[in-house]
Amino acid sequence: ALSDMGELKSGTLRLAVVTTSKYFIPHLLGPFCERYPNVAVQLNVGNRQQIIDRLKQGIDDFYVFSHPPGDLNTDSIEFFNNPLVAIAHENHPLVKQRDVSLAELCNEPFLMRENGSGTRLAIEKFMSKQGVKLNVKMTIESNEAIKHSVMSGLGVSILSAHTLAFGGNMGLAQLKVEELAINSNWYFLWLKTKRPSAIAQAFLTHVESDGRQMLLTELSKHK
Ligand code: PGA
Repeated sequence: ALSDMGELKSGTLRLAVVTTSKYFIPHLLGPFCERYPNVAVQLNVGNRQQIIDRLKQGIDDFYVFSHPPGDLNTDSIEFFNNPLVAIAHENHPLVKQRDVSLAELCNEPFLMRENGSGTRLAIEKFMSKQGVKLNVKMTIESNEAIKHSVMSGLGVSILSAHTLAFGGNMGLAQLKVEELAINSNWYFLWLKTKRPSAIAQAFLTHVESDGRQMLLTELSKHK
């Protein structure tokens, strides 16, 4: 029975996740580790390219992407949505504006994630489809550093809405850019060629059965 499995399972669960998902993964792991106290966890966080490199080497049990690589031998489940939002300092004049156009957004100094970032990839694809060009002023390798740079007035940016959830939006405001429609989903991926351990199977069951609900509950607490 499921209840006996708690004591039986020991070993390590290895996860490698993109930076935008590091805000919710711990909230999935908490209840999982409570249920399986003998399981150790190794959580690796990187940008999309870094996580693809780990996937290619087959290091981990699961990988989380919002833009999964198409060319690798993987299975996946779709987990949750990952909307991108435009952010500015809370006193920025555009914050009060009811609808900020893409053209107006492109006029502002823009803080962009580094090469290899999935967030950057999504932004660049979207902007080129719209035929507009952002005014990139700085390239910054972390969501947190971008948030602090926006807080200090260096420019505006576009990040996953989840980087702001869980209390991380101090001093920042979302711009209402109606034209900005960049949405993707997070996926849990695994290599088809890697036989899942008992722990990996239990984790996937946990993600699929309670994961979404737990995340929604967490998000609503931090609204
Ligand atoms: P990243 O996150 O921008 O850190 O690569 C990936 C993603 O959300 O696709």
